[in-house]
Amino acid sequence: MYSDIQDILYSEEQIQDKIKELGECISADYEGKNPLVICVLKGAFMFMADLVKRIAVPLEIDFMAVSSYGNATKSSGVVKIIKDLDVPVEGRHIIIVEDIIDSGLTLSYLIDVLERRNALSVSVVALFNKPARRTVELEPDYTGYVLPDEFVVGYGLDYAEKYRNLPFIGILKPEVYSS
Ligand code: PRP
Ligand code: MN
Ligand code: MG
Repeated sequence: MYSDIQDILYSEEQIQDKIKELGECISADYEGKNPLVICVLKGAFMFMADLVKRIAVPLEIDFMAVSSYGNATKSSGVVKIIKDLDVPVEGRHIIIVEDIIDSGLTLSYLIDVLERRNALSVSVVALFNKPARRTVELEPDYTGYVLPDEFVVGYGLDYAEKYRNLPFIGILKPEVYSS
């Protein structure tokens, strides 16, 4: 599995240090707000687990499963809710946890859904941001790392459902997805 990786972009340790910083910022901003922290499955599962450990204020968690990519390397532009939230968001402060923002389509759709359900506020924390690939205007409130326009996998991010379990983020060798 590791032999399919061309380069490690950020190590396990670098990712954890960044998550600690993000957690400190979010803790300062959400004191007394009891935010509902929403994990966007599947990609954000690992980031979610590590991030909430670093947020030092009372909060609740929930999960949404959304897919726009299927098994392709490029976004189809079609966002589908596969699993919805278990709790209502009306009157709640929402923090959406995403692994990566690429075109921005997934998040702009989700933000729209949550605002129409009358959330009090909606913010976004993204561990990785690829602004070069944006097709809709969208800036996360909290960003971990800005990435180059390369096909990255690991730390929750997949190619054809594989590599999500890598503890680091790396660039996939082109021959893996072009063959
Ligand atoms: C990936 C990633 C983000 C989204 C970003 O999810 O985890 O959720 O794409 O792309 P966008 O900004 O162009 O919408 P994917 O749809 O592959 O589902 P997954 O999380 O289950 O892998
Ligand atoms: Mn995703
Ligand atoms: Mg995916």
